[in-house]
Amino acid sequence: MQLIDGKATAAKIKEEIAEEVNRMLAAGKRAPHLAAVLVGHDGGSETYVRNKVLACEACRFTSSLIRFEEDVTEEELLAKVDELNRDPNVDGFIVQLPLPAHISEQKIIEAIDYRKDVDGFHPINVGRMAIGLPCFISATPKGILELLRRYDIDTIGKKCVVLGRSNIVGKPMAQLMLQKGYGNATVTVCHSQSRNLQAECRDADILIAAVGSPAFVTADMVKPGAVVIDVGTTRVPDSTRPKGFRLQGDVDFEHVAPLCSAITPVPGGVGPMTICMLMLNTLSAAKHEFYA
Ligand code: GUN
Repeated sequence: MQLIDGKATAAKIKEEIAEEVNRMLAAGKRAPHLAAVLVGHDGGSETYVRNKVLACEACRFTSSLIRFEEDVTEEELLAKVDELNRDPNVDGFIVQLPLPAHISEQKIIEAIDYRKDVDGFHPINVGRMAIGLPCFISATPKGILELLRRYDIDTIGKKCVVLGRSNIVGKPMAQLMLQKGYGNATVTVCHSQSRNLQAECRDADILIAAVGSPAFVTADMVKPGAVVIDVGTTRVPDSTRPKGFRLQGDVDFEHVAPLCSAITPVPGGVGPMTICMLMLNTLSAAKHEFYA
Protein backbone atom coordinates (compact mmCIF):
# COMPACT_ATOMS: atom_id res chain seq x y z
CA MET A 1 0.00 0.00 0.00
CA GLN A 2 1.33 3.39 -0.99
CA LEU A 3 0.50 6.43 1.10
CA ILE A 4 -0.16 9.41 -1.16
CA ASP A 5 1.58 12.26 0.64
CA GLY A 6 -0.32 15.43 -0.20
CA LYS A 7 1.59 17.48 2.34
CA ALA A 8 4.99 16.72 0.81
CA THR A 9 3.67 17.09 -2.75
CA ALA A 10 2.07 20.44 -1.92
CA ALA A 11 5.31 21.67 -0.29
CA LYS A 12 7.23 20.77 -3.44
CA ILE A 13 4.72 22.52 -5.72
CA LYS A 14 4.82 25.64 -3.53
CA GLU A 15 8.61 25.68 -3.90
CA GLU A 16 8.19 25.41 -7.68
CA ILE A 17 5.72 28.31 -7.62
CA ALA A 18 8.06 30.45 -5.45
CA GLU A 19 10.87 29.84 -7.94
CA GLU A 20 8.63 31.03 -10.75
CA VAL A 21 7.67 34.13 -8.74
CA ASN A 22 11.37 34.84 -8.20
CA ARG A 23 11.83 34.72 -11.97
CA MET A 24 8.86 37.10 -12.44
CA LEU A 25 10.33 39.53 -9.89
CA ALA A 26 13.75 39.31 -11.53
CA ALA A 27 12.08 40.21 -14.85
CA GLY A 28 10.64 43.36 -13.23
CA LYS A 29 7.09 42.09 -12.79
CA ARG A 30 5.17 42.33 -9.56
CA ALA A 31 4.30 39.29 -7.43
CA PRO A 32 0.90 37.59 -7.99
CA HIS A 33 -1.74 39.00 -5.64
CA LEU A 34 -4.54 36.89 -4.10
CA ALA A 35 -7.28 38.52 -2.03
CA ALA A 36 -9.61 36.58 0.28
CA VAL A 37 -12.94 37.82 1.62
CA LEU A 38 -14.00 36.30 4.94
CA VAL A 39 -17.42 36.88 6.48
CA GLY A 40 -17.95 36.10 10.17
CA HIS A 41 -15.81 33.91 12.43
CA ASP A 42 -16.61 30.28 11.56
CA GLY A 43 -13.75 28.15 12.93
CA GLY A 44 -13.28 26.09 9.77
CA SER A 45 -13.35 29.14 7.48
CA GLU A 46 -10.89 31.03 9.72
CA THR A 47 -8.47 28.09 9.49
CA TYR A 48 -8.85 27.77 5.71
CA VAL A 49 -8.26 31.47 5.15
CA ARG A 50 -5.30 31.58 7.54
CA ASN A 51 -3.75 28.66 5.64
CA LYS A 52 -4.34 30.44 2.34
CA VAL A 53 -2.51 33.53 3.63
CA LEU A 54 0.38 31.32 4.85
CA ALA A 55 0.50 29.57 1.48
CA CYS A 56 0.74 32.97 -0.23
CA GLU A 57 3.76 33.78 1.93
CA ALA A 58 5.37 30.43 1.04
CA CYS A 59 4.82 31.17 -2.67
CA ARG A 60 6.05 34.78 -2.31
CA PHE A 61 2.64 36.11 -3.37
CA THR A 62 1.05 39.27 -2.08
CA SER A 63 -2.12 38.51 -0.12
CA SER A 64 -4.96 40.62 1.26
CA LEU A 65 -7.55 39.51 3.77
CA ILE A 66 -10.81 41.46 3.77
CA ARG A 67 -13.05 40.78 6.74
CA PHE A 68 -16.73 41.47 7.30
CA GLU A 69 -18.90 40.75 10.30
CA GLU A 70 -21.73 38.21 10.06
CA ASP A 71 -24.31 40.99 9.60
CA VAL A 72 -22.77 42.40 6.40
CA THR A 73 -25.44 43.03 3.75
CA GLU A 74 -25.48 41.42 0.34
CA GLU A 75 -25.10 44.89 -1.20
CA GLU A 76 -21.97 45.62 0.83
CA LEU A 77 -20.45 42.32 -0.19
CA LEU A 78 -21.36 42.86 -3.85
CA ALA A 79 -19.74 46.31 -3.67
CA LYS A 80 -16.50 44.72 -2.39
CA VAL A 81 -16.61 42.12 -5.16
CA ASP A 82 -17.03 44.92 -7.70
CA GLU A 83 -14.08 46.81 -6.20
CA LEU A 84 -11.85 43.70 -6.37
CA ASN A 85 -13.00 43.01 -9.94
CA ARG A 86 -11.77 46.47 -10.94
CA ASP A 87 -8.56 46.54 -8.90
CA PRO A 88 -5.69 46.06 -11.39
CA ASN A 89 -3.36 45.07 -8.54
CA VAL A 90 -5.48 42.04 -7.60
CA ASP A 91 -4.97 39.06 -9.91
CA GLY A 92 -7.47 36.74 -8.28
CA PHE A 93 -9.76 36.58 -5.27
CA ILE A 94 -12.02 34.25 -3.37
CA VAL A 95 -15.04 34.76 -1.16
CA GLN A 96 -14.81 32.09 1.53
CA LEU A 97 -17.92 29.89 1.73
CA PRO A 98 -20.27 29.24 3.42
CA LEU A 99 -21.84 32.70 3.66
CA PRO A 100 -24.56 33.67 6.17
CA ALA A 101 -28.07 32.58 5.14
CA HIS A 102 -29.23 36.13 4.29
CA ILE A 103 -26.68 36.32 1.45
CA SER A 104 -27.10 34.46 -1.83
CA GLU A 105 -23.87 32.56 -2.44
CA GLN A 106 -24.77 32.10 -6.09
CA LYS A 107 -25.31 35.83 -6.57
CA ILE A 108 -21.90 36.57 -5.06
CA ILE A 109 -20.16 33.89 -7.15
CA GLU A 110 -21.75 35.18 -10.34
CA ALA A 111 -20.69 38.74 -9.49
CA ILE A 112 -17.01 37.74 -9.47
CA ASP A 113 -15.19 38.49 -12.73
CA TYR A 114 -14.57 35.00 -14.15
CA ARG A 115 -11.05 36.10 -15.12
CA LYS A 116 -10.28 36.57 -11.40
CA ASP A 117 -12.31 33.57 -10.18
CA VAL A 118 -9.37 31.48 -8.95
CA ASP A 119 -11.80 29.21 -7.05
CA GLY A 120 -13.27 28.19 -10.43
CA PHE A 121 -16.83 28.50 -9.10
CA HIS A 122 -18.21 30.98 -11.67
CA PRO A 123 -20.57 29.34 -14.21
CA ILE A 124 -18.26 30.42 -17.06
CA ASN A 125 -15.36 28.50 -15.53
CA VAL A 126 -17.58 25.55 -14.61
CA GLY A 127 -18.97 25.44 -18.16
CA ARG A 128 -15.59 25.78 -19.83
CA MET A 129 -14.21 23.04 -17.59
CA ALA A 130 -17.10 20.76 -18.56
CA ILE A 131 -16.28 21.07 -22.27
CA GLY A 132 -12.52 20.93 -21.84
CA LEU A 133 -11.63 24.59 -22.51
CA PRO A 134 -8.83 26.44 -20.67
CA CYS A 135 -10.20 27.84 -17.39
CA PHE A 136 -9.78 27.98 -13.65
CA ILE A 137 -10.49 24.48 -12.32
CA SER A 138 -11.71 24.36 -8.74
CA ALA A 139 -8.89 23.60 -6.38
CA THR A 140 -9.89 20.29 -4.79
CA PRO A 141 -10.51 18.34 -8.03
CA LYS A 142 -7.43 19.96 -9.56
CA GLY A 143 -5.36 18.89 -6.54
CA ILE A 144 -6.61 15.31 -6.81
CA LEU A 145 -5.72 15.16 -10.52
CA GLU A 146 -2.26 16.49 -9.67
CA LEU A 147 -1.76 13.82 -6.98
CA LEU A 148 -2.83 11.06 -9.38
CA ARG A 149 -0.46 12.44 -12.00
CA ARG A 150 2.53 12.89 -9.70
CA TYR A 151 2.04 9.41 -8.24
CA ASP A 152 1.82 7.89 -11.75
CA ILE A 153 -1.60 6.41 -11.09
CA ASP A 154 -3.09 5.14 -14.31
CA THR A 155 -6.65 6.33 -14.79
CA ILE A 156 -7.23 5.70 -18.50
CA GLY A 157 -10.19 3.41 -19.03
CA LYS A 158 -10.35 2.61 -15.31
CA LYS A 159 -13.61 2.49 -13.40
CA CYS A 160 -13.80 5.58 -11.20
CA VAL A 161 -16.54 6.04 -8.63
CA VAL A 162 -17.09 9.52 -7.20
CA LEU A 163 -19.05 9.56 -3.95
CA GLY A 164 -20.82 12.91 -3.62
CA ARG A 165 -22.26 15.41 -6.08
CA SER A 166 -21.39 18.82 -4.65
CA ASN A 167 -20.70 21.69 -7.02
CA ILE A 168 -17.27 22.23 -5.45
CA VAL A 169 -15.95 18.66 -5.54
CA GLY A 170 -18.16 15.77 -6.71
CA LYS A 171 -19.51 17.21 -9.97
CA PRO A 172 -16.27 18.78 -11.26
CA MET A 173 -14.28 15.72 -10.17
CA ALA A 174 -16.58 13.43 -12.16
CA GLN A 175 -16.40 15.74 -15.22
CA LEU A 176 -12.60 15.83 -15.11
CA MET A 177 -12.14 12.10 -14.57
CA LEU A 178 -14.39 11.56 -17.58
CA GLN A 179 -12.52 13.86 -19.96
CA LYS A 180 -9.95 12.58 -22.42
CA GLY A 181 -7.46 15.29 -21.48
CA TYR A 182 -7.60 14.48 -17.75
CA GLY A 183 -8.77 11.19 -16.23
CA ASN A 184 -10.09 9.50 -19.39
CA ALA A 185 -11.85 7.03 -17.07
CA THR A 186 -15.28 5.40 -16.93
CA VAL A 187 -17.07 7.42 -14.26
CA THR A 188 -19.97 6.72 -11.94
CA VAL A 189 -21.29 9.33 -9.51
CA CYS A 190 -23.02 8.06 -6.38
CA HIS A 191 -24.98 10.09 -3.83
CA SER A 192 -27.36 9.75 -0.91
CA GLN A 193 -30.14 8.33 -3.10
CA SER A 194 -28.00 5.82 -5.00
CA ARG A 195 -29.03 2.20 -4.80
CA ASN A 196 -26.46 -0.60 -4.43
CA LEU A 197 -23.90 1.83 -3.07
CA GLN A 198 -21.70 -0.89 -1.64
CA ALA A 199 -21.60 -2.82 -4.94
CA GLU A 200 -20.94 0.35 -6.97
CA CYS A 201 -18.02 1.31 -4.74
CA ARG A 202 -16.63 -2.19 -4.67
CA ASP A 203 -16.43 -2.15 -8.44
CA ALA A 204 -14.18 0.94 -8.46
CA ASP A 205 -10.52 0.92 -9.44
CA ILE A 206 -10.39 4.50 -8.20
CA LEU A 207 -12.74 5.57 -5.42
CA ILE A 208 -13.03 9.28 -4.63
CA ALA A 209 -14.98 9.96 -1.44
CA ALA A 210 -16.43 13.45 -1.03
CA VAL A 211 -19.55 13.04 1.09
CA GLY A 212 -18.53 14.82 4.30
CA SER A 213 -19.60 11.88 6.44
CA PRO A 214 -16.89 10.62 8.82
CA ALA A 215 -15.60 7.10 8.07
CA PHE A 216 -18.47 6.51 5.60
CA VAL A 217 -16.37 4.26 3.35
CA THR A 218 -15.82 0.96 5.11
CA ALA A 219 -13.61 -1.98 4.09
CA ASP A 220 -16.52 -3.94 2.56
CA MET A 221 -16.98 -1.09 0.02
CA VAL A 222 -13.45 -1.25 -1.37
CA LYS A 223 -12.06 -3.58 -4.00
CA PRO A 224 -8.66 -5.02 -3.07
CA GLY A 225 -6.00 -3.09 -4.99
CA ALA A 226 -8.16 0.02 -5.45
CA VAL A 227 -6.86 3.59 -5.24
CA VAL A 228 -8.80 5.53 -2.60
CA ILE A 229 -8.89 9.33 -2.45
CA ASP A 230 -10.40 10.81 0.71
CA VAL A 231 -11.73 14.37 0.42
CA GLY A 232 -13.52 14.44 3.80
CA THR A 233 -12.31 16.69 6.60
CA THR A 234 -14.94 16.62 9.32
CA ARG A 235 -14.06 17.91 12.77
CA VAL A 236 -14.97 15.20 15.27
CA PRO A 237 -14.73 15.74 19.05
CA ASP A 238 -11.56 14.22 20.53
CA SER A 239 -10.66 15.06 24.11
CA THR A 240 -7.13 13.69 23.67
CA ARG A 241 -6.30 16.50 21.19
CA PRO A 242 -5.21 19.99 22.31
CA LYS A 243 -7.99 21.63 20.31
CA GLY A 244 -10.62 19.12 21.47
CA PHE A 245 -11.21 17.77 17.95
CA ARG A 246 -9.48 15.91 15.16
CA LEU A 247 -10.03 15.82 11.41
CA GLN A 248 -11.76 12.66 10.22
CA GLY A 249 -11.94 11.70 6.57
CA ASP A 250 -14.80 10.04 4.70
CA VAL A 251 -12.84 6.78 4.76
CA ASP A 252 -12.38 4.34 7.64
CA PHE A 253 -8.62 4.57 7.04
CA GLU A 254 -7.54 1.97 9.57
CA HIS A 255 -9.53 -0.84 7.92
CA VAL A 256 -9.52 0.38 4.31
CA ALA A 257 -5.82 1.28 3.91
CA PRO A 258 -4.49 -2.31 4.08
CA LEU A 259 -6.72 -3.20 1.10
CA CYS A 260 -5.59 -0.39 -1.19
CA SER A 261 -2.80 -0.07 -3.72
CA ALA A 262 -2.69 3.65 -2.80
CA ILE A 263 -4.62 5.92 -0.44
CA THR A 264 -4.60 9.53 0.75
CA PRO A 265 -4.50 10.10 4.53
CA VAL A 266 -6.52 12.69 6.46
CA PRO A 267 -4.99 15.06 7.34
CA GLY A 268 -2.06 15.40 4.95
CA GLY A 269 -3.68 14.09 1.77
CA VAL A 270 -6.04 16.11 -0.41
CA GLY A 271 -6.30 19.10 2.00
CA PRO A 272 -2.82 20.60 1.50
CA MET A 273 -3.14 20.10 -2.27
CA THR A 274 -6.35 22.15 -2.40
CA ILE A 275 -4.71 25.32 -1.10
CA CYS A 276 -1.68 24.70 -3.28
CA MET A 277 -3.90 24.53 -6.40
CA LEU A 278 -5.46 27.85 -5.42
CA MET A 279 -1.92 29.25 -5.53
CA LEU A 280 -1.36 27.69 -8.95
CA ASN A 281 -4.63 29.24 -10.21
CA THR A 282 -3.54 32.62 -8.86
CA LEU A 283 -0.21 32.29 -10.66
CA SER A 284 -2.13 31.49 -13.87
CA ALA A 285 -4.34 34.54 -13.29
CA ALA A 286 -1.27 36.78 -12.84
CA LYS A 287 0.18 35.42 -16.07
CA HIS A 288 -3.17 35.75 -17.91
CA GLU A 289 -2.76 32.11 -18.88
CA PHE A 290 -6.43 31.37 -19.56
CA TYR A 291 -7.95 34.79 -20.25
CA ALA A 292 -6.53 38.02 -21.70
N1 GUN B 1 -15.25 26.68 1.58
C1 GUN B 1 -14.80 25.41 1.60
N2 GUN B 1 -13.95 25.19 0.59
C2 GUN B 1 -13.86 26.35 -0.11
C3 GUN B 1 -13.12 26.74 -1.25
O1 GUN B 1 -12.38 25.98 -1.87
N3 GUN B 1 -13.30 28.03 -1.63
C4 GUN B 1 -14.13 28.89 -0.99
N4 GUN B 1 -14.23 30.13 -1.47
N5 GUN B 1 -14.82 28.55 0.06
C5 GUN B 1 -14.68 27.29 0.51
